[in-house]
Amino acid sequence: MNHPFKGRTISVVEDLSLDEQWYMYQQTAKLKRSLKEGKDVSSFRINDPEFSVYLMFFEDSTRTKESFRNAALFHRCRLNVFDANSSSFNKKESLTDTIKMLTGYSEKSLFIIRSPQEGVCRMLETNIGDYAEKMDFIQPSFINAGDGKHEHPTQEFLDEFSFLEQNEWNRDSIHIALVGDLFHGRTVHSKANGLKIFNNVSVDLIAPAELSMPSNYIQIMKSNGFKIREFQSIESYLAQQDVAKIWYFTRLQLERMGDKVLDKADSLRSSVTFKRQYLKDIPEGTKFYHPLPRHRVYPVIPPWLDSTDLNGYDEQSVNGYLTRIIEIGLLGGALGEDFTGATKEVIYKDEEFVIGAPIKKKPVRDVKTGIKPVENGIVIDHIGFGAPIPKIWNQIDKIRKTMELNYSSSHGVFSSRNIDQYKGIISLPNILSFDRRQMKMLGAIAPGCTVNIVKNQEVKEKYRLLMPPRIYNFDQISCRNTNCISHKSHNEPIITMFYRSSEDRYVCKFCEKSYSFDEIWN
Ligand code: NCD
Repeated sequence: MNHPFKGRTISVVEDLSLDEQWYMYQQTAKLKRSLKEGKDVSSFRINDPEFSVYLMFFEDSTRTKESFRNAALFHRCRLNVFDANSSSFNKKESLTDTIKMLTGYSEKSLFIIRSPQEGVCRMLETNIGDYAEKMDFIQPSFINAGDGKHEHPTQEFLDEFSFLEQNEWNRDSIHIALVGDLFHGRTVHSKANGLKIFNNVSVDLIAPAELSMPSNYIQIMKSNGFKIREFQSIESYLAQQDVAKIWYFTRLQLERMGDKVLDKADSLRSSVTFKRQYLKDIPEGTKFYHPLPRHRVYPVIPPWLDSTDLNGYDEQSVNGYLTRIIEIGLLGGALGEDFTGATKEVIYKDEEFVIGAPIKKKPVRDVKTGIKPVENGIVIDHIGFGAPIPKIWNQIDKIRKTMELNYSSSHGVFSSRNIDQYKGIISLPNILSFDRRQMKMLGAIAPGCTVNIVKNQEVKEKYRLLMPPRIYNFDQISCRNTNCISHKSHNEPIITMFYRSSEDRYVCKFCEKSYSFDEIWN
């Protein structure tokens, strides 16, 4: 039977394709209708005592945890609420070891995890996936219930479901204002991809500079074709005419802020708190949303709004329970048999990065101006072509250090013939070849460089190196994000990996932090 969702992991929004997300929203709508009409909902249920749902919350939660707990109870499966405080975490056990063990305690498992570390579910998908294969266990699923400042995909799904309801299921366009702590709020970070369920997206970002949306998420939004505008406060937003009818508020995440920002908490909060005098500037039919909780002393949506038509957040939080029933049902294999759309795309394509290049019939000594001619050896040419001179020197240095080219060489920065641009050259006498790993490293440190294999003063082979689509299994790379689960301070058994995300950038497989190609090397 067709089970396209069974055993999958939802670490980020994009772990479900748009077709799959749409299918999930339609299933949720169907369930919601059936429940309202008092119809039989048993076809939505997993109904299997061998299916175990583990709730593992290493950060506080009420709504997410309780809606998942009740959704698991709906399915009549085995429910385990993991107590982090009395577990071997306090004896410094790794998460990988803990979950390996738990995977052996039931036939099929789904782990729902909230953690301050980012990329945990992606790590477990890999680590426990390998372990399950070795042990011949059924692949467990993982759901990210919020990881640090990274993502909160299931909150995103319930938010989008609520917006679709509000838009009467019209996917043509959405105009939304995101208000509040856009810097720390993972629920708004997930919108960078979640809003793609709509065809035309306009996003107004309303936050003071200290709490503004991180540039990588703005970049993702822009590359997804969203129209973006930025405002420092609700007041400045309402001073112009084009006001959105869907507002998404987030609270100030004071627990994640440093002292410097905390000193200013009052004025920051004030700029994103809704006030009575704003009411007259709000378009007819506007709805307010909030992932909740809101602060009971300083709410950005004050409670007097609860009884007004602006309140979309009550319905939104109910939708959390319903979308999560469907998510568990999909990963557990009870739903999805009739799904026919496209599934998730692979995020990288294993393209060749070593490209054969034409050899110009010139003696080496004429071409490599300034470099000692090599009788036999390798000449790395075109390093950092066109970049500023200090940057090229840096790249030469990085190549020599990272590749441990600790033998005699001559190297330098030279101007390219006939053009006013510079490039670096390293010549390595008596090194006769690079292996695949060395080529990969070189392609990732100095994309665009060429490798010339010289024999008897003649270039016999020449290759141009492109940025490899995927870099892993090198001790010399690491993610700098201390909250990333791959960071060495977390001591998980992990293979650091980066994917090429654009012409000159890599993203971490786990926390998805974006780096320029030369930043991933230690
Ligand atoms: C959000 C979260 O945990 O990221 N809450 C939630 O899941 N309902 C937002 C928040 O904590 O403010």
